[in-house]
Amino acid sequence: MSDLSLSTDVSLQAFNTFRIDARARRYLRVTDPDQLTQLAADPALAALPRLVLGGGSNLLLTRDVEALVLHMGLLGKAIVGQDEAVTLVRAQAGENWHGLVEWTLAQGLGGLENLALIPGTVGASPIQNIGAYGAEIKDVFHALTVFDFATGTTRTMTAADCRFGYRDSVFKHAEGRDLVVLDVTFALPRAWTPNLRYAELAQALEGSADPTPRQVGDAVIAIRRRKLPDPAEIGNAGSFFKNPVVSGAQCAQLLQAWPNLVHHRQPDGSEKLAAGWLIDQCGWKGKTLGRAGVYPKQALVLVNNGGASGAEVMALARAIQQDVRARFGVELEPEPVTV
Ligand code: EPU
Repeated sequence: MSDLSLSTDVSLQAFNTFRIDARARRYLRVTDPDQLTQLAADPALAALPRLVLGGGSNLLLTRDVEALVLHMGLLGKAIVGQDEAVTLVRAQAGENWHGLVEWTLAQGLGGLENLALIPGTVGASPIQNIGAYGAEIKDVFHALTVFDFATGTTRTMTAADCRFGYRDSVFKHAEGRDLVVLDVTFALPRAWTPNLRYAELAQALEGSADPTPRQVGDAVIAIRRRKLPDPAEIGNAGSFFKNPVVSGAQCAQLLQAWPNLVHHRQPDGSEKLAAGWLIDQCGWKGKTLGRAGVYPKQALVLVNNGGASGAEVMALARAIQQDVRARFGVELEPEPVTV
């Protein structure tokens, strides 16, 4: 029998990268999938609302958590298969994401390098289909295992089942409410070629004729270190807003007033705008509101300058949303999960 003793009144400050001081009324460190089976079999425990916690890097806590916090600590990673086209790598949900990227690179496996240094865990990576520098995990996703609280069983899900979108998947919607990701399997291409779609990454590698996955990963790490705050040093959750998507017509109208508007045409004719640019234009870069602030090198990142509450971060986020709405008529949608 695995351990099913719930802790009570646990501080979550060390478990969220915003370093917000909130507490969990009930908390379980999950180190064995059997704990979930036991939970689901206990009617009182199974009825509790749940918050699944990975690295806490996409989370804004605005108050103490009434739900049962399931802190995923399942560990392990291995090569589980290979054919002419791909190498299959499987990692457990609690593995550190960047640790997995480094592990694949150390073995000469390419495919995850554009996603180097993203904070958080493997189990969280499919929830918001993490992406950066022209890549998303859906590009190298093979399958994942979930525990389903509705049935008390585990099952495999394919990419189609996960319904990946931009920073989105089935797990962020009502249909995914009962699912807990246990492990994720990635299909890494054996005939690897660098993905240099992102202009700044291509520029950084201009000197290297045939870059290796390691070199691409190092370039990504260098770019991220230049622009993004290290959560170990300053509390943050990466991009605080998604890049908004507007119609082609709205974008054309905006371009008349703002010729420098940063926009990327989508396959369906809509346009993705750079939220960081919009916020920057409103003069928010480097500004603070209470103990929360806008990171001076990247306006899309909100930071905890020390001791900020979740409510202070929310107040700053609302002020930014209001300004962007007033100036551009564009709605900014927060990226982190807010509790
Ligand atoms: N920009 C500004 N001012 C700023 C920030 C950005 O003018 O303060 C402009 C930049 O000059 C650029 C454009 O906005 O033209 C886009 O900026 P950047 O390339 O830095 O990327 P982003 O759109 O702000 C997205 C992801 C990041 C990811 C980078 C690189 C989202 C919400 N964010 O940021 O993901 O690392 O692209 O691919 O899609 C995250 O999700 O947490 C995250 C960090």
